[in-house]
Amino acid sequence: MKSSRIIGLGHYVPENIIKNKDLEAIMDTNDAWIVERTGIHERRWFNPDKDTVANMATRAAKIAMERAKIKVSEIDFIVFATITPDYFFPGSGVLMQRELGLQGIGAIDIRNACSGFIYGLSVADQFIKTGMYKTILVVGAEIQSSAVDKSTEGRSSAVIFADGAGAAILRACDPAEGGILSTHLHADGDFAEELYVRDPGSSRKVRLSEELIKGPTFNLTMNGNAVFKHAVVRFSEVIGEALAANNMKAEDIDLLVPHQANLRISNYVQKQMNMPDEKVFNNIMYYGNTTAASIPIALSEAWEKGKINEGDIICLAAFGSGFTWASALIKW
Ligand code: COA
Repeated sequence: MKSSRIIGLGHYVPENIIKNKDLEAIMDTNDAWIVERTGIHERRWFNPDKDTVANMATRAAKIAMERAKIKVSEIDFIVFATITPDYFFPGSGVLMQRELGLQGIGAIDIRNACSGFIYGLSVADQFIKTGMYKTILVVGAEIQSSAVDKSTEGRSSAVIFADGAGAAILRACDPAEGGILSTHLHADGDFAEELYVRDPGSSRKVRLSEELIKGPTFNLTMNGNAVFKHAVVRFSEVIGEALAANNMKAEDIDLLVPHQANLRISNYVQKQMNMPDEKVFNNIMYYGNTTAASIPIALSEAWEKGKINEGDIICLAAFGSGFTWASALIKW
């Protein structure tokens, strides 16, 4: 049976930098509160005249393909993780496919929020292992800034969530070369409403009305406290599961790339795992929480900074809406 390796990474973030000071002008918040509770100093918000979820993903994918030194035509399949697709349907996977000129190959969207990229990686890994495909493009891309309530009422979410895209090229390899060692996926729908956007949902008499748009259910709703409490437990649990499955210990991890939910969550997990600073990669300070895009953006940036080398053990871990949580252990 084959394994799958990541042979190229790329990311794209919108040019529009929103600093905490900029948020102070539109809602009752302040830089000190945001930095202390989330670690975020600035984030990117999309430009509606220029950026779409699909075209940000396309830009990230082109960089990943260039670094992988492959032609676009070598891609056999697309896995697109997003909870903020450009259309209600179809998904953004087919839109990116069209932009890349890859009409005809299969494309699926994955809607597992912050865990979406690892779920996507796992799906792609299974296709490669069974021999169905050889080269798969996996992306995570989001525009969250248009889903948050940017008034004081929505401040606890509005300061956190942001926009961007990241991409990885997975290719079949010999298991002796390393690659994805394991993925572990979990979900618990009991907590679906702790972090969600309710409308425009289909199980309503009318999907969209003026009343709905003005109401609170149209914006992202988050029980920050519940998310925090579950995240710190599940992150450590799912990393532990990955290590146990591969007979490894936390010391064996060369780099942990956690979903960039909140710097306090990452720091807490790092402490629980007893890992030194240089073995945990965080960039939430500059990009905020970009949901499904956060891990591929962080992975791509860590690679650019020379923090990922051949033979390294890389651990990815995520927690988010659903609740969903997941991990991937990779031998680079
Ligand atoms: N600026 C200033 N004050 C704010 C604020 C903001 N952006 N957001 C909330 N506050 C205020 C609250 O109104 C509250 O004021 P009060 O005490 O007068 O009522 C106070 O700060 C504390 O609010 P609380 O919600 O209890 O803060 P918290 O310490 O739980 O921090 C989060 C809020 C959202 C930062 C925190 O719960 C968190 O990080 N949760 C996890 C979120 C996350 O990671 N989500 C992504 C998952 S993928």
